Amino acid sequence: MQALILAGGQGTRLRPLTVHTPKPIVPICNRSFLLYQIDTLRDAGITDITLSLSYQPHKIEQLIGDGSAHGVKIKYTVEPQPMGTAGAYKFAEELIREPTVVFNGDILTDLDLERVIREHNARRAAATLVLAPVENPSAYGLVETERDGRVRRFLEKPKPDEISVNTINAGTYVLEPRVLDLIPAGENYSFEYQLFPDLLARGEPFYAHIPGHAYWIDIGTTARYLQVHQDLLAGRVGHVNLDGRRGEFMSTAGAEIDALSLVARDCTIEAGARVVNSVLGEGCHVEANAVVEDSVIWSHTRVCAGANVSGAIIGRGCHVGRAARVGAGATLGDETSLSDYTQTGGAL
Ligand code: GDD
Ligand code: MG
Repeated sequence: MQALILAGGQGTRLRPLTVHTPKPIVPICNRSFLLYQIDTLRDAGITDITLSLSYQPHKIEQLIGDGSAHGVKIKYTVEPQPMGTAGAYKFAEELIREPTVVFNGDILTDLDLERVIREHNARRAAATLVLAPVENPSAYGLVETERDGRVRRFLEKPKPDEISVNTINAGTYVLEPRVLDLIPAGENYSFEYQLFPDLLARGEPFYAHIPGHAYWIDIGTTARYLQVHQDLLAGRVGHVNLDGRRGEFMSTAGAEIDALSLVARDCTIEAGARVVNSVLGEGCHVEANAVVEDSVIWSHTRVCAGANVSGAIIGRGCHVGRAARVGAGATLGDETSLSDYTQTGGAL
């Protein structure tokens, strides 16, 4: 079994965070997102992994390298322009000889992947896709199934009156290499709008895997980017244990850092400051009496005295001036500087 990670999207819904950092490597609890997916694959015994890139590929290659630091072998394909999800798989055709696990490069899950593969093999499926239940399927691919698990209908981004079930495409597939023959070469082509409906029309054995209990999230919007942090801090994601990474900070006496928060190396939290249910990247400085709660702050950012950051995301190397208030929903791009007393974001 091989794997292909679709990591070429532009991450527009995560802007401004993705202006300098492509979505596949945004930090999640201070670790590049793709490393969680690589862990999942390696733990399922899959070490031959191709990363399919298009947007800012060099930053990703530089960070992940040949994969040896993570116990896997990484190869890369770089599309001259985005080829679409299925087009990206076709573009990697020369590297694909075996059945392949394909991941959307923005989903975090604690799914039992080996079980998905066993089920795929037992059913002799041409393609298996994993389902997740969500409250509102309109931002996803809606999937209806038959009793025996066969996919009956696939409808990408359904309109409100088209929503018949709450099960959606979780962005994890197992594909037999013969599926490649159904994708035209050199064209932009979509799994969701083209290949999957085509598999159904051809009557191919196309199945859904329904996990018993699994955590699943697409990190591709700022709201969900914040949500995945809250879930990881609260221990809601299996296989990810943050305990060994908590408490590496430096701090002056008299600061308060709650047990949920994750503070990276070389941070300074001054007396009277409070850090609650938050993640701070390396080298951050939280000055006296500032409060950071329910927030994510990337490395080398300074939160000045008496400032309050709540329910916000702040990029690298930012400056939050004295007594400034950064409220719910605010997302600041790298190197933003807010002058003293600025008020931004939702109600505090
Ligand atoms: N290489 C490459 N080339 N990758 C791409 C391209 C491309 O042209 N276009 C998108 N991708 C990657 C993105 O980087 C992302 O990891 C993945 O493909 C899915 O693209 P998104 O833009 O995040 O799609 P979505 O979230 O709206 O919908 C998809 O994911 C949902 C689950 O999160 C669909 O697959 C839905 O059906 C699904 O429910
Ligand atoms: Mg997505």
